Amino acid sequence: MRFGGLLLLLLGSRHGDVVSSLSTTTAAAAGTSSYLSQVPMGPPDAILGIAEAFGTCEDENKVNVCVGAYRDENGKPWVLPSVRAAERLMIEEDINKEYAPIVGNPAFIRRALEFAYGKDVMEAQGKTIAGTATLSGTGACRIGGAFLAKFLGEGTKIYLPDPTWGNHIAIFREAGLDVQRYRYYSRATNGLDYDNMMEDLKAAPEGSAVLLHACAHNPTGCDPTQEQWGEISQLCQDRQLHVFFDCAYQGFASGNSEKDAWAIRKFVEDGGHASLMLAQSFAKNFGLYGERCGTLSILTDNEEEKERVMSQLKLIVRPMYSSPPIHGAHIVNTVLSSPELSAQYVDECAHMAQRIDAMRTALTKALKAAGSTHDWSHITSQIGMFAYTGMNADMVTQLTDDYSIFLTKDGRVSLAGLNDNNIEYVAKAIHAVTDGKPITTEELSA
Ligand code: LMR
Repeated sequence: MRFGGLLLLLLGSRHGDVVSSLSTTTAAAAGTSSYLSQVPMGPPDAILGIAEAFGTCEDENKVNVCVGAYRDENGKPWVLPSVRAAERLMIEEDINKEYAPIVGNPAFIRRALEFAYGKDVMEAQGKTIAGTATLSGTGACRIGGAFLAKFLGEGTKIYLPDPTWGNHIAIFREAGLDVQRYRYYSRATNGLDYDNMMEDLKAAPEGSAVLLHACAHNPTGCDPTQEQWGEISQLCQDRQLHVFFDCAYQGFASGNSEKDAWAIRKFVEDGGHASLMLAQSFAKNFGLYGERCGTLSILTDNEEEKERVMSQLKLIVRPMYSSPPIHGAHIVNTVLSSPELSAQYVDECAHMAQRIDAMRTALTKALKAAGSTHDWSHITSQIGMFAYTGMNADMVTQLTDDYSIFLTKDGRVSLAGLNDNNIEYVAKAIHAVTDGKPITTEELSA
C-alpha cells in the first residue's frame, strides 16, 4: 500500500493533481481498509479464459480448439513467410520507433482500406472515407461504438446477430450503446436463420445500428448468399439502419480476400444506408494476432465531412491510447505495397484457408469412422475458421473434463487447432459425448 500510495503521489504530481494523491497516501498510511477489498472477482473470459485453462492443463493429450488462431500441421503458431520477409526489410531499412499520428500511418490506412473496399472504390471515393488505425478488430469496434454513441446518442440501439462473437456484446455495451439481438442461426438445421433475421431487422427502429459480420461469421461459419446480402442491404436502406461491418476473417472464408470482401463492396456500391462503418482486423488473415493491427473506417459524403469525422475520431483515440502501435501496420503496409510480397501473401492466406477446409472434411470423416450416426454435414457446409457443431454446454464440459479438449461452451470448434495427430482423438471424444444425444433441435423433436 505504501508503495501504491507513493506511486500515486508521483503520478499525481506529474499531472499536477497532488491534493487527491496526498489524501490517498494519507488513507494508506492510516491503514484504513482499501476499496480493493470490496472488488468482486470477475468471471473468466468466455474465450480467452478457456485458453488460459488450456495453458495450465497437464494432460499430454490436451487439445486447444478454443481460440480462433491459426495453427500449422503440427499444431504450432505460424508466422506467414511474407510477414517475416516484411519484417526483415523493415530491419534492413532501419525503421524507427517514433509515435504514429493519432489516427495511424496514412500509407498503411490507404493500403488497408484498399484491401477491404477494393482499388476502384478507393480511387473513386477514397478521399471521402475517414479511416483510423486501431488496436485490431476489437479496438475498431470499440472506437466505432464510441463514435456512434457520441453522435447518435448514448443508448442508441445496435443489433448484433444471435449468436455473435462473445466480446461484441461487452464492447458495444461498454461503448454506451443499447445492445439488441437479431436471430441469425437455426438450431433446427444448424444453418442460417435467414427469414427470422430479416424479420428482426425489419422490426428494428429506424436509425438503429446493425452489426454484420462481413464474411466467415464467428462463431457459426454461416454467411448469407450474395442474393441474400443484396436483400439485407436493401432492408438496411429501407429501414435507414446504420451499417457496421465487422471484417475479421477476410481471406478465411473462401481463401481469397477479394472474394471475401464481396458483401462490403456490394453495400458500398448500393449506397443509401443511414451510414456505413467498417471494423477491419489483420489478426487472422495476416497472422498478426498480438500486434493488434486493424482499422476503423466511416464512409462520408464529402471531403469536408470526412475532415470533421476524422477530427472526432482523433478526440476519441487520444485520451484512450494516444496513438496506435506501429509494427503490425508497417508489416501490412510493406506486404501490400510490394507486388511480390502481396502475391506471396495471397498464396499463404489461401494455404491457411485450405488447411482449415481440409480439417472440416477430415473431422466429418473421422466422426463417421468413430461410429457417429449424426448428420455432421453442417461442418463441411460452414466456412471460415470455426465449426459450430451443435454440441451443447454439457457436452463441451464433458469434452474438457474427460478428454482435455478445450473449446467454447457454445460448441464452437476452432478447426485450425486440429491436425493429423489429434483429429482421431477429437473425433472419438466428440462421438463419445454426442452418441445417442441430439445435436440439433430437429433431432431433439424426432
Ligand atoms: C475468437 O473468436 O476466438 C478470436 O476472435 C479471439 C478472441 O479474441 O476472442
